[in-house]
Amino acid sequence: MIHVGCIMDGNGRWAKRRHLPRTEGHTEGEENLARLVRVAVKRNVGWLTVFGFSTENWVRPRTEVRHILGLHKKLFGRVAELNELNVRIQWMGRPFDSRDARTPRYVQRAIRKAIADTASNTGMVLTVAFDYGSHAEMVHAAQVAAAGGPLDQASIDRNLYLPELPRVDVMVRTSGELRISNFMLWQSAGAEVYFTERPWPEFDADELDAALALVRE
Ligand code: IPE
Ligand code: IPE
Ligand code: MG
Repeated sequence: MIHVGCIMDGNGRWAKRRHLPRTEGHTEGEENLARLVRVAVKRNVGWLTVFGFSTENWVRPRTEVRHILGLHKKLFGRVAELNELNVRIQWMGRPFDSRDARTPRYVQRAIRKAIADTASNTGMVLTVAFDYGSHAEMVHAAQVAAAGGPLDQASIDRNLYLPELPRVDVMVRTSGELRISNFMLWQSAGAEVYFTERPWPEFDADELDAALALVRE
């Protein structure tokens, strides 16, 4: 089963080119994720993990952050669609009870509900990284691992936010940026990388197929 990671970048630029506010780009980006989930299911992708909001993104303007929070509530509210597609949704990020976690309670509630309401689905696993940073995750994993015994690769693996996530086969980044930006650094050590000029709202089935071809050829 293939694990695809997506750094969903370029929503702001997509909107700017259309003389729209950045928030419209995020709205379209969320719609595109819903479309892409359908395509990924058809392509028999096992695991789709997307970067929704990073630990670094909180410095953005308040109105933009609030809009993105609302979109995550909407995304985690798509339970009927996910159930129709037999997709199980997960979340990863700074644990809600940790000191530096920033996910507001109304988003936490939507996340918890979506996870519970799709828990018995057996098809693709969609993981949304929100308030996620790879450095925070690795520090967390190392602290828990070191407290419990020897610190080695296996003990770090066991203490990542979602230890059951398999390693990433192909990492996608949209919008022409050639960076990984603190996303699944540990999990993508051996991944192929697919960079595209297309902004996230335009990342379509052909683009996914091009990324999958790096793994399947
Ligand atoms: C990605 O799009 C979405 C998030 C980081 C939340 P951007 O908002 O980074 O779009 P650009 O990079 O400014 O075009
Ligand atoms: C990466 O995009 C984070 C997400 C897609 C959530 P950014 O636009 O925040 O990344 P940088 O700052 O350009 O590297
Ligand atoms: Mg960006």
